[in-house]
Order: sequence, then C-alpha cells, then structure tokens
Amino acid sequence: MHSADRHEPGTRADLDKRADDVSDMFDAIATRYDLLNDVLSLGQDRQWRRKTVAALEPRQGELMLDLAAGTGTSSMALAELGPVVVAADLSYGMLRQGLAQYPELDFINADALQLPFPDETFDAVTISYGLRNVEDTLGALKEMLRVTRRGGRVVVNEFSTPTNRAFRHVYNNYLLRALPPLAKLSPNPPAYSYLAESILAWPDQAGLADVMLEAGWEGIEWQDLSGGIVALHRGWRP
Ligand SMILES: C[S@@+](CC[C@H](N)C(=O)[O-])C[C@H]1O[C@@H](n2cnc3c(N)ncnc32)[C@H](O)[C@@H]1O
Repeated sequence: MHSADRHEPGTRADLDKRADDVSDMFDAIATRYDLLNDVLSLGQDRQWRRKTVAALEPRQGELMLDLAAGTGTSSMALAELGPVVVAADLSYGMLRQGLAQYPELDFINADALQLPFPDETFDAVTISYGLRNVEDTLGALKEMLRVTRRGGRVVVNEFSTPTNRAFRHVYNNYLLRALPPLAKLSPNPPAYSYLAESILAWPDQAGLADVMLEAGWEGIEWQDLSGGIVALHRGWRP
C-alpha cells in the first residue's frame, strides 16, 4: 500500500523515507515551497540561510555542492558570494521550480546516496533541511565525504532540538498543532505532517555530531540558531 493511502488526501512519505515517496512528496509541494518556508518559520528561514552561508566561509572560485538543493534558494544564497555552486536534488518537481526561479544556477538530478561525482570533487558540501529526509543518514554523510577534497568542509543545516525545556514544549506544540492548519496553504498539506513528525524523530545536536564522526568527518562543531530550533553542524574531511 502506498504511504499516502494511510493518511489525509495528498502525498507524503513515512518515517522510513523511501526515496520514491520523498520525491513524490516534494514534487507535490514545489510550487509553494519557498512561500511556506517563510510563513511557517515566521521569516526566520532567511536568517538561518545567512548563518549557513557564513559557516561555509565561501571563497571566490571554490566549487561547492548544495545537496538536496530543492528549488535552489539555499544554493542561490551561497552562489551570490562567489563560489561555483552545483545544486543537486532528487525531486524533478523541485528542480523544475528551481530552474524557473534561478535559471543562472546549475541544477542536477541526484540521489544523496549515490552521488554522480568523482571522489574529492568539491571544496565544500552543504545540505539544508535535506539530510533529515534521506533514508540512510550515515550513508549520505559518507557520500558527501567521498566527493569532498581532503581538508574540505561540510555544513549541515537542519532542524534540531531547542535547548531550553520550556521553550521545547512550546515549540513541539507548535509543530503538532499550529503547523498542520497553516500547511493548508500548500498544494499538499500532508507533507507538513511529515515535516513535524520527521523533526521530532530527528537526533539532537550531539546525536547528529556522532553520526557525522562515524561517517568520517572530523572537528565537528555546531551552532544553535533560534534557541536550537535549527542547528548548523560543521566538520572537515581529514
Ligand atoms: C526541505 S527541502 C530543502 C531544499 C533546500 N535545500 C532549502 O534549503 O530550501 C528537502 C529536499 O531534499 C530533497 N531530497 C530528499 N531526499 C533526497 C535524496 N536522497 N537525495 C537528494 N535530495 C533529496 C528533496 O527532494 C527536497 O527538495
């Protein structure tokens, strides 16, 4: 049975995150994806993107991979500062929307678990709100390591765990109660129930750092944004 059959009308992935389901789900939200980000994050997403770019410390002429780039908004924020950015994503719907929004970017269809690039291609790799959606977190982090040059860096921008207990309680309530009605603005509201569930099931800051270490990244450090709603993890390829 397809996962959508067990939920409200529309299409969504389950927490086993099969690539076909994830791709279908993003195909179905692509046209309003960026608008919903602004609404649901109360505009915070713009600040989170600026901090992600700052953590990458991009230099003119460097080659960077923005994995799970979606509609290219994360890639554009980076490309504006000088590096050459490859925007890779699984969902053709998101890529099509990205191409319409940012025709100047290089988009490519790619699965995070089987990247179509030789070893040590990029100076840096980054992934914003994408790693949580990949079936095999460790496998994706290993693939990202493989395509990064020695001494290169990774920045993972992902939802995380608010560090203050009282705030965490308020935030979890927002995810479970306020977010689904707001998601009716989307052409595919069930995707936003998946969003809430996948955030709540995702490892906290230290947990993700452990997986990055296991994948082979070194010097892992993280920065909490908006009290830990989002965390930026940075690491280096030995
Ligand atoms: C929440 S969007 C993030 C898009 C963009 N990075 C941003 O910051 O707005 C997550 C993206 O991850 C992509 N994705 C999920 N699983 C993937 C995989 N295995 N390989 C590549 N992309 C994947 C989806 O297609 C979707 O476009």
